[in-house]
Amino acid sequence: MGKRVLLFPLPYQGHINPMLELAALLHSRGFSITIFHATFNPIDSTKYPSYRFILVEDGEIANRFTSAVEDTVHRIIAWNNSCEQLFYDCLTSVLSDKNEEPNACLILDMHWYNLQYLANRLGVPTLVLRTGSAATLNWCRTYAQLVQKGIIPVQESQSSMLVTELALAPLRMGDLLRVGNCSHEVLSDLYTHEMDAIRTSSGVIVNTFDAIDSTEVEKFQKAIPVPVFCIGPLHKFTPPARSSLLIPDCSCLEWLDTQVVGSVLYVSFGSLACMNYEEFIETAWGLAKSEQPFIWVVRPGSILGKDAVDLPDGFIEATSGHGKIISWAPQHEVLAHAAVGAFWTHNGWNSTLEAICEGVPMICKPQFSDQMGNARYVTHVWKVGIKLEGKLERGMIEKAIKRLMTEDEGAEIRQRMRTLKHEASLCIKSDGSSSVNIDKLVNFISSF
Ligand code: UDX
Repeated sequence: MGKRVLLFPLPYQGHINPMLELAALLHSRGFSITIFHATFNPIDSTKYPSYRFILVEDGEIANRFTSAVEDTVHRIIAWNNSCEQLFYDCLTSVLSDKNEEPNACLILDMHWYNLQYLANRLGVPTLVLRTGSAATLNWCRTYAQLVQKGIIPVQESQSSMLVTELALAPLRMGDLLRVGNCSHEVLSDLYTHEMDAIRTSSGVIVNTFDAIDSTEVEKFQKAIPVPVFCIGPLHKFTPPARSSLLIPDCSCLEWLDTQVVGSVLYVSFGSLACMNYEEFIETAWGLAKSEQPFIWVVRPGSILGKDAVDLPDGFIEATSGHGKIISWAPQHEVLAHAAVGAFWTHNGWNSTLEAICEGVPMICKPQFSDQMGNARYVTHVWKVGIKLEGKLERGMIEKAIKRLMTEDEGAEIRQRMRTLKHEASLCIKSDGSSSVNIDKLVNFISSF
């Protein structure tokens, strides 16, 4: 084996997956792999026998917070403030281990900003993994400026206005980053720390591809001149990460085999987004009234205030034979299945990229963080989806499903999605932009 690469994902599903895919990619190029992981959402190391795993015991930090989305931010800040000594001990023990291959570099999730400074102090070269898009990176980069200019917090009456400052078009005010009730002061501080940390790194790796994000990379590098490597979609370069935090219900694949090509709506809102019970009921009846076959992922704990999936009376009968509710899906396989014709999504970046790669048009219902901006690109830049605006209501859901899956407008959207899928497939060819960038990244890491 060649040099060793150390990687530390943020312990959330949408961050673990791309980091493990990056690890697999680097392993296939001859690097030894060491993964640091946390006690919160630990990775099942038995699935990766060729890697070394080191547990960073973050103790009770994670449990101090609730599952509310704003607490994901508070938890990240608490980890950064408290994990430095723990991570110092883990990192120095790896670095001083004479039985290990020489260390090339440490790859940190962008949210580990304090650990970046720690690595700098120890003289360890670092790269930052951005699991979202390059456009997202620019929204984080400019967040503090938007606060200074008084644009954030956004006034409700201005939410449909375009953002004309800081080259953020096509975003509208309502698409700007927000995370539940998290205050703009807290977010502003977080992103400022993260951008300052990136400035001291050796470069940024982004899970995206040039055809959809290169102008955003140029904007970013003008402001923060570090090397940027767009090497996505990562899951297309390696087998998808085997790190699901929940067990996927694979019976849905057999069920999909029995459905008509392009007829099934796949509904999933990722690993963190939740809905209240009223929204859950409206969603159920919207799906039933559309009369379109569907797979609906209802994650445990994703209906606020309910421990179980409490379906409305009559729903099972109304959807019998054409609806399937599961607690977690093998999402890559579902999206790649010929029976799936559309994806109702929260537009997490991984889900958005996975849909593009399989050419599945989207119904967008973003909730927080980068999701609103991702949805804006889906509906108004690439024009491969439609958005559900405002309060969820069964009639509006039924109409959106029919628009996308049975009407002429949907056929046009599908055609554009085919083109976008083709562009994604070009970037992973041996001479495609992401493949070329991977070669550059491998040479870059080897040079440390
Ligand atoms: C959130 C943000 O929305 C995202 O943009 C950010 O970069 C990370 O945090 P999440 O809610 O987890 O992420 O969504 P997403 O980025 O879409 O990642 C979810 C992952 O879980 C995807 O890789 C998806 O394939 C997988 N998944 C989801 C399943 O395997 N099964 C499911 O049923 C649902």
